[in-house]
This record gives sequence, C-alpha cells and structure tokens, in this order.
Amino acid sequence: MFKFYYHIVKKYASRYLLLIILFTITNALSLVTPYALKIIIDQTIPHGTYSDLVQIILVLLACYIIRIGFSFYSGILYVNVSRKIVADIRRVLYKNLLNKDTSFFKESKTGELIYFLTSDVDKVQNFFSSTLLNYINNAMVVVGVISVMFYFNVSLTLVSLAILPFVIINTFMLKGKIKESYHQLVDIEGNIYNYFLERIRNIRVLKSYNAFPKEIQTLDGYHDQWRQHAVKNTYWNGISSNITTFLIAIGPLIVLLYGGKLVYSKVLTIGTLIAFIQYLNRIYAPVISLAAGVNEFFQSKVSMKRIYDNIDPNQENEPEGEVVQEVHSIVLKDVSVQYHDKVILSHFNYTFRKGKIYGIKGKSGIGKSTMANLIMKFVKSDSGEIYINDIPLERVKNLYSITALIEKENQLFHDTVSNNIRYGSEENKNIELEEILRMSSLTEVVHKLEDKENTTITFSGSTLSDGEKQRIAIARAFHKQPDIIIFDEATASLDINLEYNIIRSIKEKLPNAIILIISHRNNLNEFCDEIIDFEKITHENNTKLLVTS
Ligand SMILES: Nc1ncnc2c1ncn2[C@@H]1O[C@H](COP(=O)(O)OP(=O)(O)OP(=O)(O)O)[C@@H](O)[C@H]1O
Ligand SMILES: [Mg+2]
Repeated sequence: MFKFYYHIVKKYASRYLLLIILFTITNALSLVTPYALKIIIDQTIPHGTYSDLVQIILVLLACYIIRIGFSFYSGILYVNVSRKIVADIRRVLYKNLLNKDTSFFKESKTGELIYFLTSDVDKVQNFFSSTLLNYINNAMVVVGVISVMFYFNVSLTLVSLAILPFVIINTFMLKGKIKESYHQLVDIEGNIYNYFLERIRNIRVLKSYNAFPKEIQTLDGYHDQWRQHAVKNTYWNGISSNITTFLIAIGPLIVLLYGGKLVYSKVLTIGTLIAFIQYLNRIYAPVISLAAGVNEFFQSKVSMKRIYDNIDPNQENEPEGEVVQEVHSIVLKDVSVQYHDKVILSHFNYTFRKGKIYGIKGKSGIGKSTMANLIMKFVKSDSGEIYINDIPLERVKNLYSITALIEKENQLFHDTVSNNIRYGSEENKNIELEEILRMSSLTEVVHKLEDKENTTITFSGSTLSDGEKQRIAIARAFHKQPDIIIFDEATASLDINLEYNIIRSIKEKLPNAIILIISHRNNLNEFCDEIIDFEKITHENNTKLLVTS
C-alpha cells in the first residue's frame, strides 16, 4: 500500500526537500534567541557596553525578519504541494472507480463513494503534507534543541529529558483505542453522507409519503451514533494528550530543582539556566505534536487503506486488443449469467446482424437489461463468449466508440442542451446539430427554449418533460453515430408516433447499425426485423437460439 503512495509523493521530492531546507533554516534561527539571552545576561550586561547590547538586538531583529519571510514562502509552497497530492490521488481513484464494473456501483452506496473521494483523500493528503512535514520539522527542532542543551550541560539535559520515554510509552499504549474509535467515526460519517444524498434524490418520495417525522428520527439516530463515536474518540485522544501534557509540564520543575542547585554551587550561570528553560519550553510543542503525529498517522492509515482497497494496481496497463472498424455482427455464444444463486441467462445463443432492428421483450426482471449490459461489458458472463465481428468482446478496444446505450433513467448533465447532445463525441463533425434535433423530434422543443440549444438543463432535468429528456439522450446517441444502438426502455415515455419517427430516422441515417429495442410495448412487431421473447427462452429452458418473427 505504501508503495502506491510513495509513487505519488515521489514526484514532489524536490519541493519537499526545499521545504525541509526552509524549515531547517527557520529552526536554526529560532535557536538563536535563548543563546543571545544567555550572552546578554552573563556577559554583555555585566561586562560589555550598551552599544554591544544594541548590536545583539539588531542581529536578533534580522533573524526574526528572515524567519518570517521564510515561513511565509514555505507556507505557500506547502499549500501548492499538498493540493497537487490531493489532485493526484483523486485522479487515480476516480479513474479506478470509473473503470469498475457497474455492479460495483449497484452494490456501493453513492454517498460513501463521494465521502471517500473527498474526505478520505483530504485526510491522506493531510498526512503527506501537514503531518509528515510537521513531523520532520518537529523532529529537527527537538534534535537541534537537545543538542544545544547537551552543549550547555550534559547532566542537566539528561535529568530534564527523563520524562520523554514516558511520553512515548503513553502514546503507544493508547493507539489501539484511538484507532478503533476513529474507524467507527469515519464509517458513520460516510453513512450520513449517503443518507443525505439518497434523501435529496428521493425528496419527492419523502414528501408524498409524508415521511419527514420518520426521516428526522433516522437522522437523529445517525447523529447519536456519530456523537457517541466522536466523544469516544475525543475521550481517548484527550487521555493520551493530557497525560503527555502533564508529563511535559513537569520538565521545567525538574530543571529548576536540579539546575537551581547547580547555580547555587556555581557550576551553572543564571544566563545558562534561563536559556535552558527557554530551550526546554521550545521542545514542548514539537514533542506533543510528535506524539500526536503518531495518532494522526494511524488515523490517516484508515483512510489510506480505504482508498487503496478501491484501487486496482494493474489498472494502468492498457488492455491489448483490436479496433473494430465496421460492425457486422454481435454473437452471443453459450452465454450464462447468474447473480448469487439466481440463474438469469442459461446457455444463451444469439446472433445480431448489421442493418437489422431487434425487439426484446419479456416480463420484468427476466434478464433483458442484463443482456444489454453484457454487450456493453457492464456485466461479465459466468461462461460463454461474446464476439463483435469475430473479435471476443474483451479484446475490442473501441467498444464505447461503436456503441450507444440509452436507458430509461434521466441521463442528462447540468449543462446546455447542445453540450448534453455532444457529450462523449464532441469531435463528431459529420453531423449537424440541426439534423440531430430533427431526427430525435426535438426541433420544436429546443426552439421554444429561451436560449435554444444553449439553454442549461437544470440538475435534475426538471424543466423538461420525461419524454423530452429521453429524446435528448437519444439525440446524444445519434450524434455519436454508433454501429450498435441499444434502447433499454428508452422510449417508454414517448408516444407511439414519436417512437416510430425516431426509429425511422435512425434507419435512414444509420442503415447499417444493429439496433436493439428493449420494450414492454406490444407494438415491437411493427418496426422490428426479429423479436426475442425472453419468457420463451427461460420457460422452455432453451439452450439454443429462440426467435419469433
Ligand atoms: N447486480 C445485481 N446483483 C444481483 N441481482 C441482480 C443484479 N442486477 C440484476 N439482478 C437481477 O437480475 C434479474 C434480471 O435483471 P434485469 O435488469 O436484466 O431485468 P429486466 O428484464 O431488464 O427487467 P425490467 O423489465 O424490469 O427492466 C433481476 O431479477 C434482478 O433482480
Ligand atoms: Mg431492464
């Protein structure tokens, strides 16, 4: 898993290095002040002149200015690198998601997917930029400060650092609890995301079933769980960090106790003791943050794993195969599909030929869409083969350039009518938008819109009727001019005349296309060359081709 992230972060190695250099300089400069204080107290004030003092103060001022400049610049650099890492991880994740089998999306909750595309990626990014860099930075501070302390007085340093092992032990002891409670918190957050997404999508159902009171109860339930897990997480985090804070607060007391004794016995100067306490003060925050960093690491590991589990490392390899120029047949040979124990298609054979229209009928749930999904490679068969021309489907490189699937559901994007029509085949210059509109009986509809084809369709497409939305989806397929067109109940909202006109237009424009029309209507015979009745296939337990004409 770490190899995957390493590859992403590796690209920014030089910028990381620059950031580390900037941190080193700023940290080194921050060590100057206590040292200057020691010189002022022990030497300049008792033995030197006022102008010596002014000189030291000027040097300190210069150090501050350089520090501010450097930390300003490193802040900007840091935001740049971290956002690039987010973009990189999200790109890989998104590409992987898009390439997943459609059944993956059927089985996953949309909200959870969005949550991990956003929130989980943010957490991982946070680790690779903020946590990791802070870790390096803080480790440098701690090492630098401890070195200077050793330089001043070895025994006093050893005494004052005696509490550090306890700090580390404490952090590791509680990490299991923190990790577990964080896991639960992340899961429930994903659930809440999904909850809102589904309810907003189904808002009309909520309203028409008067389900608000019940829904508020469900949401309250989620929030209760969420709050409980958050409290649990804060509880364990709190115990861990407060023990650390307490242990670290004891530090100066020990230094005063032991260092004071050294001052009384003239082994240590007052200036050194003050500088020592100042240095010790400076390692508190970094040590606490180093300890907390361990927890942050375990937290982001949860997200890292969730992301990694959804990534297929072999995904980047371009599949080998052939480009189909002109489709003349689709052959389904001995194809079987079953979901869990339920057989949907059993040894199904059929050959679709170019220039023909096929009607597919059969009762709901019998497997019509499954067959369309097989041809679109959205579903894999359990056995058997599918060929386009003579090429096995999985070897067809340009499957999605030669096919168009139009489904019953709203398939439009929040964009203009023309962009929706051109979606996925922008570069097709062979066909005018005017002609597409005419073919899909949309000319009048678009003419009536305020900005014609440049009118934006709202998110849900609610400004258009269901039939109009379907026709835009059909127009999109026409624009692509594919060799295979599958209508999966895509004309369900159209009246018979419209449906007939559209089919006739395709026949004229794409006489060689293979057209599959899945429909519950009884009028398929009127414009189809062959009808496949799925009920007969399953009822007679047919193993070979079955057609009624
Ligand atoms: N991902 C899946 N996991 C489990 N079962 C599935 C899955 N997809 C479809 N099914 C089941 O497979 C059967 C066939 O589904 P399919 O969508 O092909 O039916 P259909 O003939 O298109 O029906 P309709 O006319 O209602 O659209 C159904 O019983 C359905 O419940
Ligand atoms: Mg269906």
